[in-house]
Amino acid sequence: MSTDSIADQIKFAYWVPNVSGGLVTSTIEQRTDWGYDYNIKLAQTAENNGFEYALSQVRYEASYGAEYQHESTSFSLALLLATQRLKVIAAVHPGLWHPAVLAKLGATADHLSKGRFAINVVSGWFKDEFTHLGEPWLEHDERYRRSGEFLEVIRKIWTEDNVDYRGDFYRIHDFTLKPKPLNTPERPNPELFQGGNSTAARNNAGRFADWYFSNGKDFDGVTEQIDDLRAVAQAHNRSVKFGLNGFIIARDTEKEARDTLREIVEKANRPAVEGFRDAVQQAGNSTGDKKGMWADSTFEDLVQYNDGFKTQLIGTPEQIAERIVAYKRLGVDLILGGFLHFQEEIEYFGEKVLPLVRELEASQTPAAVL
Ligand SMILES: Cc1cc2nc3c(=O)[nH]c(=O)nc-3n(C[C@H](O)[C@H](O)[C@H](O)COP(=O)(O)O)c2cc1C
Repeated sequence: MSTDSIADQIKFAYWVPNVSGGLVTSTIEQRTDWGYDYNIKLAQTAENNGFEYALSQVRYEASYGAEYQHESTSFSLALLLATQRLKVIAAVHPGLWHPAVLAKLGATADHLSKGRFAINVVSGWFKDEFTHLGEPWLEHDERYRRSGEFLEVIRKIWTEDNVDYRGDFYRIHDFTLKPKPLNTPERPNPELFQGGNSTAARNNAGRFADWYFSNGKDFDGVTEQIDDLRAVAQAHNRSVKFGLNGFIIARDTEKEARDTLREIVEKANRPAVEGFRDAVQQAGNSTGDKKGMWADSTFEDLVQYNDGFKTQLIGTPEQIAERIVAYKRLGVDLILGGFLHFQEEIEYFGEKVLPLVRELEASQTPAAVL
């Protein structure tokens, strides 16, 4: 198989469980652990099972089932240092970080990891987290205007000398970062991801990011976002890759997978899910066109707090592989997976699902590029 077709393969990331309570707000048994030892072993398992990326979460205080949280950038660095190939994406909030301080941290992390550090810029939904820290909580589209400047400043600092920038949120005067992060054959600087699905998020990703991250979505939901994203990117002579969240329940039989989903939802931690539903009104629902995250989510959807059930990667390895390849045909470049029991299920995914995905991809690749 040529390098071209390897580059064309759909990529896989997993959510780093650096926040307690797992990826579903449910009292169902979860063997996932948010601690350091578990996560180191998990990262090593993931890179040996076909996962190219890991995404850490950022949460500063207890909320809606997430009682304990490890800080995202330091935890990401720990995972990088314990692995060989895995790229680790650290989630960060503009408003709580200065972009140049983060650019500096990113350059060091990139050197320490030999070019495997990346950033996911998240614009926030959790108002208390800002107000408890004495920071202003901006209105939705203003948060995104700040995130746009944040992305722009970081990339400039990573790639240019004597940076000058006059924004509404950030000002940089004749600043030169040394050393710059690594420029590898894979990418010229650490990759920048934009999490968020509103019109403002699509604009930011199209203009400033390398990747756009979507919450869980069905085929129509993905298509609608990809159309918008491509239009913005093309208008700025750019291209942006698309990552899709999905909660994966792969079992030997479809019945087992469906029963697991039913049990997760039946055992939902209701007060936590309801509290989360109220808090996320600050996201997509607070915008004029209501296109953003959680704007149309039901109670059941929110039991996986990034709408991961909507992607419907639930069933046998064959069913899941077919659906992943169908998403790829729509333009999805990466699946971001959440799991109930991360350690066991990432191994199962690597052993049972991934080979089927690769087979399907190979059978659908035009002979010319083989
Ligand atoms: C893949 C992904 C990861 C995210 N991770 C975090 C996170 O770790 N911490 C956080 O506060 N918000 C996180 N968010 C949520 C964003 O902060 C933001 O509230 C959300 O994307 C709403 O955006 P929207 O209004 O543009 O749809 C994430 C979003 C996505 C899509």
